[in-house]
Amino acid sequence: MPGNAGLHAEVGGLSIGSPVIVASGVWPMEPSLWPEKALEGVGALCSKGLTLEPRTGNSGKRICESYSGLLNSIGLQNPGIDHFVKNELIGLQTCDKPVLVNVSFESIRELAAILEKLLPSRSLVGAVELNVSCPNVSRGGMTWGLDPEGLEKAVSFARKIWQGPLWVKLSPQTSSIGEFSRICQDCGAQAVVVANTWLGMAIDNDEEKPFFERIFAGLSGPAIFPLALRAVWEAAGAVDIPVIGCGGITRPEDALSMMLAGASAVEVGTALFHDLSLPAAICSRLSAHIEARSLGSVGEITGRARR
Ligand SMILES: Cc1cc2nc3c(=O)[nH]c(=O)nc-3n(C[C@H](O)[C@H](O)[C@H](O)COP(=O)(O)O)c2cc1C
Repeated sequence: MPGNAGLHAEVGGLSIGSPVIVASGVWPMEPSLWPEKALEGVGALCSKGLTLEPRTGNSGKRICESYSGLLNSIGLQNPGIDHFVKNELIGLQTCDKPVLVNVSFESIRELAAILEKLLPSRSLVGAVELNVSCPNVSRGGMTWGLDPEGLEKAVSFARKIWQGPLWVKLSPQTSSIGEFSRICQDCGAQAVVVANTWLGMAIDNDEEKPFFERIFAGLSGPAIFPLALRAVWEAAGAVDIPVIGCGGITRPEDALSMMLAGASAVEVGTALFHDLSLPAAICSRLSAHIEARSLGSVGEITGRARR
């Protein structure tokens, strides 16, 4: 990345060339489908959410645009962990950047089986990113990440099995993102990703019924940026491990704000659907800030708005 001095970062056990990470679920896991230059400015990539068994995802409509965001009801469509390890994980190494593996699970047994299947490929996995926005079947379908006990159990369990970098991607709809981030830290997570999508919905007025079969869907994109920024601020005030800012980053200024609020790196998702040059533009903006303030590296941007 010529002209982007000082962007290298050590975050949550990962060494990355820039603090811009492609968020889970927005990029194909097949590198031959990526447009040329798509990786410019990208420091690491995150896989689609992987489950133990392959999943075909939700039926019915899956995507709906709102004024300032995107609703998705994909339903974790993915090839399953075995297929991923044998095929996509190896292919993804061609990008020569750390690959985060986003793990989704509905029971501790499922979590254990997924991590055990990843262990032999440990050297190909930059970090495991636990997606705790899925239902815990043993607690009546309550979301792992909205239940302090469930969260504690899942993160401590993952920590016992997975010795590599372990990140937890939180749901933003907790009663206290600070408290939930602290649970992750206390259970051995090396970073928290703040955060996943917000639940929203749309109505099909002609049909006079909910747009999605599952009624609610995940809202991402610019609509959630101020909410995510507030969550990053709170999380960063509550923990010592790095906070990765995620949610609605659409302009380079958004990424800078996230870092000033306390993020050590950012994940970018929805914005990439219409602007593949965003990671490179974020890098230029961060570099310009480093230079303008005579900082040594991007890490020194983190939390400057909190002083
Ligand atoms: C189409 C789509 C699929 C997604 N799939 C996943 C997923 O499998 N696992 C996950 O943790 N997050 C998933 N997400 C959430 C994103 O990774 C990200 O946390 C969220 O969209 C907020 O960031 P953004 O506003 O920059 O998109 C998905 C988002 C979208 C739009």
